[in-house]
Amino acid sequence: MTRNTAINLIQRPTGGPINAKLFEVVQTDIPALSEGELLVKQNHMSLDPAMFGWMSPDTNSYIPPVALGDVMRSSGIGEVVESNHPNFKIGDRVMGMMGWRTHFVTNGRGINKVTAPLPDEAVLSIFALPGLTATQGLLNIGKPKKGETIIVTGAAGSVGSIVGQLAKAEGLNVIGVVGSEEKANWIVNELGFDAAINYKSEDLDAQLAKHAANGIDLYFENTGGPIQHLIFDRMNAHGRVVVCGLIADYSKQVASPGPSWMNVIKRRLTIQGFTMPDHFHEVPALLEQLTPYVMAGKIKHRTHVLNGLESAIGGLNLFFSGGNKGKLIVKL
Ligand SMILES: NC(=O)c1ccc[n+]([C@@H]2O[C@H](COP(=O)([O-])OP(=O)(O)OC[C@H]3O[C@@H](n4cnc5c(N)ncnc54)[C@H](OP(=O)(O)O)[C@@H]3O)[C@@H](O)[C@H]2O)c1
Repeated sequence: MTRNTAINLIQRPTGGPINAKLFEVVQTDIPALSEGELLVKQNHMSLDPAMFGWMSPDTNSYIPPVALGDVMRSSGIGEVVESNHPNFKIGDRVMGMMGWRTHFVTNGRGINKVTAPLPDEAVLSIFALPGLTATQGLLNIGKPKKGETIIVTGAAGSVGSIVGQLAKAEGLNVIGVVGSEEKANWIVNELGFDAAINYKSEDLDAQLAKHAANGIDLYFENTGGPIQHLIFDRMNAHGRVVVCGLIADYSKQVASPGPSWMNVIKRRLTIQGFTMPDHFHEVPALLEQLTPYVMAGKIKHRTHVLNGLESAIGGLNLFFSGGNKGKLIVKL
């Protein structure tokens, strides 16, 4: 008989790498379905930096933390393997917040059918959180204008790579900040960014001066880190800063001090943070915005696939080391 394997969060991280002690792997029987329920077998699970926030004890955030003892939260794609639900049949391909588990029984709330004729990896890399976040953050908050200069941090990541390509399609001068030469080459030579800056290299300010000779109009922040202050100092009047993520701070007990507010007033900057759960009701409209760019061949992606449920635990550390090359996904 098939059993469910799940990974529960049992301790909260206190800084440093994520390790197996924070989790327990459990095997459970799969209960019989009641009327109106379906059984889903998950095939691909998304790993996201947001998980660090979900594991923290902070209740004053945009979404409650995962309770200790609960299945770790994640989104994924799977298939219906049993159904007592009028709207789902066996074989339907579905997507939703599935958690770190192989199987689960649900009443279907929050579970949507996937009809796009694309592999799971492409759906999770483009049409799920990365693409939706890039679309909302860049197009709707950043409001890019042709001829402007944008800088994107975490530029080879799943969100940043789409932000940069959307900005390029809109006619901006696009600078990406990355942590390796391999990623720098990829975003310039494969994705069409105008320039890349490796934040681990020397002379960051000189590189900014060279690639953003006319200053920076739009700053899409995914990471934080020391380059943040240098970018901030080069913002143009009426520049916009879209704060999407600050991964450099996710494993710190105390967040880094931000840039000085003096530039906010002197350059009349607009700074806007956002989180996607506020926009989940707008997903159809966001997909309508994003799809034409994809159909026009303007959005490339790469996927980094790990194998097996338990690979999720160590996999999270790839976000900190920069070891992930593209959208991080666990194949079950
Ligand atoms: N606001 C929202 O609703 C929302 C939604 C999705 C994602 N996000 C945020 O967007 C950001 C990117 O997410 P993603 O899923 O696309 O992840 P990702 O960029 O694919 O992976 C994270 C990358 O961050 C870089 N990084 C790690 N530590 C760093 C440091 N100290 N300084 C600079 N860069 C560092 C690494 O790349 P390098 O090799 O280049 O260092 C790593 O590969 C995250 O901060 C995430 O929390 C926000």
